Amino acid sequence: MTDEDADGNAYFDYAEQYDPDWTERPARGGRKQQAKAAPKRSQRQIVAELAEPTGLEAGFVTSYQPARYEAVWLLDSLRMFYDEQLITDVLGQVKGGKEASVYRCAAHPTTGATLLAAKVYRPRMFRNLRNDKMYREGRSILSADGSAVKKTDHRLMRAVGKKSAFGVQVAHTSWLMYEYTTMERLFQAGAAVPRPYAAAENAILMTYFGDEQRAAPTLSEIRLPKDQAEFLFQDVMRSIKLLLEHGLIHGDLSAYNILYWQEKAVLIDFPQASDISSNSKSDFILRRDITRVCEYFIRQGVRCDPNVITRELWERYGALAEQQAALLAAEQAAMMLETDFGE
Ligand SMILES: Nc1ncnc2c1ncn2[C@@H]1O[C@H](COP(=O)(O)OP(=O)(O)OP(=O)(O)O)[C@@H](O)[C@H]1O
Ligand SMILES: [Mg+2]
Repeated sequence: MTDEDADGNAYFDYAEQYDPDWTERPARGGRKQQAKAAPKRSQRQIVAELAEPTGLEAGFVTSYQPARYEAVWLLDSLRMFYDEQLITDVLGQVKGGKEASVYRCAAHPTTGATLLAAKVYRPRMFRNLRNDKMYREGRSILSADGSAVKKTDHRLMRAVGKKSAFGVQVAHTSWLMYEYTTMERLFQAGAAVPRPYAAAENAILMTYFGDEQRAAPTLSEIRLPKDQAEFLFQDVMRSIKLLLEHGLIHGDLSAYNILYWQEKAVLIDFPQASDISSNSKSDFILRRDITRVCEYFIRQGVRCDPNVITRELWERYGALAEQQAALLAAEQAAMMLETDFGE
């Protein structure tokens, strides 16, 4: 079956559940579904119904008019944020990508924000879970509440290994929760990243950078005056160091994943973030991030050498992480010995 078939079928499955026009289509076997005769209602009842607040029962209707296929996936993905009174409306699409689309939403007043960004992963993304092997190394599997699944949960680990439907679902939740928990950790550490508000099955709700008309541009979309470029380069380097101080490497850093807002750089797009001490490719991943960032800033007139920067950072943070990993391994071995003797 091709992807298109799979997407098409997925659409019909969703449409059957969510598409308001669905009953107008011929029912299986070619017969039209019979409309049920509506029971007669009194005038008072009708007036009372019309006066009802457009609450949750009235459904999630958005100002943004999504395309038909997008609508089913979008509304289903964001419904939880609406039901939990985090957003009141979807105002527009910020960007539609291969793997995720980001939407500008009207925030519910209780959040304290006016606008929020919702990143909705596409169904295709979860089927491929593309070249994520390198980033998964050393990661535990995260459950929907962000806690690590125990490696001793053999049923679950087997399902993930075999890529059964349940396993794919677990891997997909884990991928999304990595992005969410990484953002949470970094936001709490004071990094220039969006504040994550909530995570649903296919979506993350976070701070929106931009205004009513336009989202903040990515660095790749703008040219910087030379004096600002230097300042911003230092800003990005500070963020990279802050991540390293928390044992993290972004893993997909480039001018495409840095927003420019109010003269500051905001790092986004974290599902590939990896732990410096538990990933054996950390030095390679860090080098690639630094190289891509430097490539952009060199074009903007900043003088920087990715090799020198990577070496300095690695000496400072990588070596420390290696020591910490060795210490942790030794502690774990000692604990295992203790329990062996204790038994
Ligand atoms: N919090 C935000 N506020 C404003 N715009 C955002 C925000 N987060 C993301 N965007 C915009 O949405 C785009 C896609 O977001 P992100 O980089 O997180 O997804 P992605 O996984 O790269 O998607 P794809 O690979 O499909 O492009 C970004 O390039 C940026 O323009
Ligand atoms: Mg991106």
